[in-house]
Amino acid sequence: MTFSASGQFHTLGGIDELAERGAALIADDLEAAVQERGVFRLALSGGNTPRPVYERLTKKPYDSIPWDRVHVYFGDERMVPCDDPESNYRMACETLLDRVDIPPWNVHRMAGEINVEAAARLYERDLRDLATETGDPVPRLDLILLGLGPDGHTASLFPGTPALQEHTRLVCSVSLPETSEGAKHAVSRLTLTYPVLNAARRVVFLVSGSDKAAALERVRAGDESAPATRVRPHDGDLIWLVAES
Ligand code: 6PG
Repeated sequence: MTFSASGQFHTLGGIDELAERGAALIADDLEAAVQERGVFRLALSGGNTPRPVYERLTKKPYDSIPWDRVHVYFGDERMVPCDDPESNYRMACETLLDRVDIPPWNVHRMAGEINVEAAARLYERDLRDLATETGDPVPRLDLILLGLGPDGHTASLFPGTPALQEHTRLVCSVSLPETSEGAKHAVSRLTLTYPVLNAARRVVFLVSGSDKAAALERVRAGDESAPATRVRPHDGDLIWLVAES
């Protein structure tokens, strides 16, 4: 393990070890939060890397997780119907949410099927209601899972987009140029903004693939032109689980 301004970096052997370590870390955080506060608020990352981590949580020894105490949010969403293969919600359901006993009202889905600005306002209201409930100025999630793109993006905070400059709103719509790294999945997206990401008790990046090496180096060097570099929880932990292969 190495430390830098960008947090604790754990370089792992491969995706199987990432799945084991990621699931264990989530389960440990969940147990501690439920014991301390009776609830665990988790934001899931999209993309492919988290799939084996979510699937691992559906197997022993995690079969005793009190899912009724867990509230699931999303770090971002592609503006597609929830049954679209590109939907992060669909991926979360396939790998985890449809396979555990989490009450449906505990799953806070971003509405990818409606007008993007209306979806942003709806999700912002949900998060503001949470902040009011907990007495925080900004909702303080217990654990936010994030990924890293080869261009240094995280969630749907992509280089050169206005959402990077958003310091008030909690949720932003994103419209990507066709040339953007993320456009191959969806040009229209929703994303949590830095105020929410940096209010978390803990942020864990789940990273896999040799195509992320350059972006990782930029983050470790503190290069703020990589959006992921600016994820620095004000009063929380920052952990990177990196599967090199
Ligand atoms: C998305 C994700 C995105 C993802 C990275 C890494 O909706 O596309 O939220 O930020 O985490 O692109 O994706 P992989 O883990 O699949 O490489």
